[in-house]
Amino acid sequence: MDITILGTGHMARTLAGGLLGTGHSVVFGSRTPERHTDLPAPVATHAVAIAHGSVVISALAAAHSLEILTPLADAIGDRVLIDIGNAVDERFDLIYPDSSLGERLQQALPDARIVKTLNTVGGPIGVDPTLLSAPTTVFLSGDDADAKATVSGILRDLGWADAQQIDLGGITTARAVEHYFLLFAALMGALRSPQFNLAITR
Ligand SMILES: NC(=O)c1ccc[n+]([C@@H]2O[C@H](COP(=O)([O-])OP(=O)(O)OC[C@H]3O[C@@H](n4cnc5c(N)ncnc54)[C@H](OP(=O)(O)O)[C@@H]3O)[C@@H](O)[C@H]2O)c1
Repeated sequence: MDITILGTGHMARTLAGGLLGTGHSVVFGSRTPERHTDLPAPVATHAVAIAHGSVVISALAAAHSLEILTPLADAIGDRVLIDIGNAVDERFDLIYPDSSLGERLQQALPDARIVKTLNTVGGPIGVDPTLLSAPTTVFLSGDDADAKATVSGILRDLGWADAQQIDLGGITTARAVEHYFLLFAALMGALRSPQFNLAITR
């Protein structure tokens, strides 16, 4: 699958490594493509990179995702847009305490098919869940069933078995996984590591 990754930071590079390793094609989108000569795939402006992909992943600094993605609504069109962002400020407080970035993006880009996922795990675990000693859980939120099926397949490629994936429902459930960031940050402080994840057992 041709996948556009917006952003060139830690998560963008980590996701690209995982996706390239499982046979996907990647193009990065950057504010300054000319500055990135060390990436494992081509880099272009946001609009050019989006045109390359059938699926777009926003690995942008989440506090700025809405302002960056809103003017790109026409370029994104009805593509699947995977949002992995945790929108918090410099004090780790939620930027959308009564909503979520996922919902705000869906409102701002009504044609795009937003799927929230992978925001509850540290980057390396997201692309290789076997880094943990036991199976753990990843969540999906989104209004479009076909889009979630596409994203579920990408997660499967990265090593997330179907039994490890929980479809939480519509995009309003993005607030559940985004507000989890408060617990995630507290756990990271207590455990002094991001190498952990939730495992939902029944
Ligand atoms: N770090 C993790 O383990 C983790 C886990 C789950 C989810 N997330 C989420 O993944 C996203 C990316 O995280 P990250 O750790 O990769 O962040 P990062 O290293 O800071 O990278 C963010 C990228 O966003 C782009 N960007 C666009 N506008 C920006 C602005 N005004 N200020 C700063 N960067 C801007 C930059 O790419 P260009 O300069 O090329 O434009 C930058 O490389 C965040 O939304 C975060 O919440 C992270």
